[in-house]
Amino acid sequence: MSSLHGRSLLQDADLSAEEFGHLLDLAAALRSEKRSGREHARLTGKNIALVFEKASTRTRSAFDVAAHDQGAHTTLFSPQDTHIGEKESVADYARVMGRMFDGIEFRGSAQSDVEALSSYSGVPVWNGLTDEWHPSQALADLLTVRDYSDRPLSEVTLAYCGDARNNVANSLLVSGALMGMDIRLGAPSSLQPTDEVRALADSLSSVSGARITITDDAAAAVRGADFVYTDVWVSMGEGAEKWAERIELLLPYQVNDALMAATGKDAKFLHCLPAFHDLATGVGRKIYEQFGLSALEVTHDVFESSASVVFDQAENRLHTTKALLVATLAE
Ligand code: CP
Ligand code: NVA
Repeated sequence: MSSLHGRSLLQDADLSAEEFGHLLDLAAALRSEKRSGREHARLTGKNIALVFEKASTRTRSAFDVAAHDQGAHTTLFSPQDTHIGEKESVADYARVMGRMFDGIEFRGSAQSDVEALSSYSGVPVWNGLTDEWHPSQALADLLTVRDYSDRPLSEVTLAYCGDARNNVANSLLVSGALMGMDIRLGAPSSLQPTDEVRALADSLSSVSGARITITDDAAAAVRGADFVYTDVWVSMGEGAEKWAERIELLLPYQVNDALMAATGKDAKFLHCLPAFHDLATGVGRKIYEQFGLSALEVTHDVFESSASVVFDQAENRLHTTKALLVATLAE
């Protein structure tokens, strides 16, 4: 699709529904190519910067492997490797990077940084997560929903329960609204999306026919849902002191057997990962010592159940990221 060539993806609403659908189709086609050993390089000679001001497993791997599969070269900048904001303004940094790289993936805190990077670098910039948006995640999420649905996205109901004003929830809400889905958010009022994000979702819904429900009733949010999604209760960049308050606010929204049963359906479970579902993580063990909880946003039973498609969802980060790189960079 030529309209995507040379473009950045800074937030979900940068894409039209047609462009979003095209990226999902392209991702599925690239996935088939790779699986059948027919993949050919469309990005030979391209240089891609991977800039991470925050930690990452999936996003970094997806961009790196996708670029490599397509013949591009990547350079990784870990949190300690950049001068951004400290010794060098984003505007100066962007102008240097734009002289050397054909495209830049950026993960950081401020949405204004990824926006400045795009306006000053003159090359495509892909948001690999900011405090506000995680659009490359939403592409993988909706590809996974499509993979596990026998109906079009416009006939699918997805409920997200937990911290519903974080980057993942914002992107899911707006992408679902763009694609005409039935999207429900279950969260306490203090952790619901901002008026600005709601207004964006509402305006997209009025075009797409999406149904949006934002409620503090977790059972009502998931009733009739085909998919139940959650994310961590404290995001990167938020202090550990937040845990006590979040646990108190969000325990009623934990995805457990009872909440999955409240869908009244054979619903699938989604999570962007990483997830706190057992005591196999440092954070999980600390929380257990402090609060006596062995699981947080999702129980181990649900995480490991046959309803859970989280590792397919994680793999889809690769295929959707590759589609994004090919659509925006290939000649
Ligand atoms: N889901 C996701 O973005 O994972 P990483 O933080 O590991 O990149
Ligand atoms: N909301 C989480 C998503 C991680 C992929 C965070 O920002 O830490």
